[in-house]
Amino acid sequence: MGRKLIAGIDIGSYAVKVAAFTASRPSTFKMARSSHPHALYALGMAELFPPGTDPETTEPGDDLIVDAIERAVVDSGMEKVSKAVIGVTGQAVTVRFVQMPRMTERELHDAVLMQADQLLPFDKETVVMDPQIIETADSSDDEMIRVLLVAARRNEIEKRIELVNRAGFDVLAVDVDAFAALSCFVSDVEGESEENLALVNMGSRVTSINIVRGGSSLFHRDFNIGGSHLTKAVEEKFGVGFALAEALKTQHGVLSEEEAVEQGEEDRNPEVGDAMMPVLQDIAREIRRSFSYYEHQMYDRGVDRMVLTGGAAMLRGLRLFLAKELETQVDIGDPTARIPMSPDLSPEKIATFGPGYTVAIGLAGWK
Ligand SMILES: Nc1ncnc2c1ncn2[C@@H]1O[C@H](COP(=O)(O)OP(=O)(O)OP(=O)(O)O)[C@@H](O)[C@H]1O
Ligand SMILES: [Mg+2]
Repeated sequence: MGRKLIAGIDIGSYAVKVAAFTASRPSTFKMARSSHPHALYALGMAELFPPGTDPETTEPGDDLIVDAIERAVVDSGMEKVSKAVIGVTGQAVTVRFVQMPRMTERELHDAVLMQADQLLPFDKETVVMDPQIIETADSSDDEMIRVLLVAARRNEIEKRIELVNRAGFDVLAVDVDAFAALSCFVSDVEGESEENLALVNMGSRVTSINIVRGGSSLFHRDFNIGGSHLTKAVEEKFGVGFALAEALKTQHGVLSEEEAVEQGEEDRNPEVGDAMMPVLQDIAREIRRSFSYYEHQMYDRGVDRMVLTGGAAMLRGLRLFLAKELETQVDIGDPTARIPMSPDLSPEKIATFGPGYTVAIGLAGWK
């Protein structure tokens, strides 16, 4: 195997996830249509908090984060990787879609800088901005262009870089979690596709929604509900501590009766699902609201299919629950489905936390 290159490091509020590709081209491809030139060979994760700590109420200190990065790297088995691409998310990031008169990418940077005060809720001196022109098949002749403007707070980025440096990595680039996740499912291959695909990444505190068509992101929104809120609901209903609630949630999920029978589940406990139901309904409502906005306020097209990723996508029964609630096809995203895999990587990692590695894999594949 050749020299190893870049690590993708996803520092979440619950766990740090890392991924790395080999530098050499693989001899075997898992999928013929894969456009990725390298093989994924390392995946690792480490929870930020000692067992039993409630991530909803505790802010992880710097030492805890550095330690979790180091543990995730050890878990992944990656070697001699000294460069990293990291992600930022949540409150540190603002995403805006704006209309502007047609201009070149170059002119766009100046125009955005001039108008930053109107476009962004932050002082432009405190953010890093990245405007991109979005072309869709039906927009190329228009006089106006649609611009995706991503801005991230400079101090948050610097803070993260410092922690990653302490864990032994130089940072090559910073991306936004939700956009890094896209690259696992959308590529130039889809350039012509008319499908309206929603990619929903559900983490511990944040769920982010991206709707893409023809390879471009046309809608983005985050909301602050995720896996930790489900755990909290179980905790309150059963009067147990966080660790036990987490175990109950993972074991039982929201399996419907039919699914439980199908999966040969004998000790189905519907009370766990019932406890989480109000939170699950909130999640479904927020997603539905975004889909409806996309359809009625923006593009006159509904979402055709949704792909669910993030650690919380592992919740048993969630796929079917959301498919019914949203009346849309929902698939659990496998971020490795279209990339070549090294034989060194244990399939166990994908089986136990596959969708949870989406952002890390997207970051590691940065070009
Ligand atoms: N098998 C499982 N069943 C149900 N939930 C799971 C499972 N495995 C992990 N989770 C949940 O996934 C969540 C963590 O997901 P993830 O690692 O994507 O979050 P994060 O990136 O750390 O958080 P955020 O992006 O919100 O800051 C936790 O709430 C955890 O309980
Ligand atoms: Mg996350």
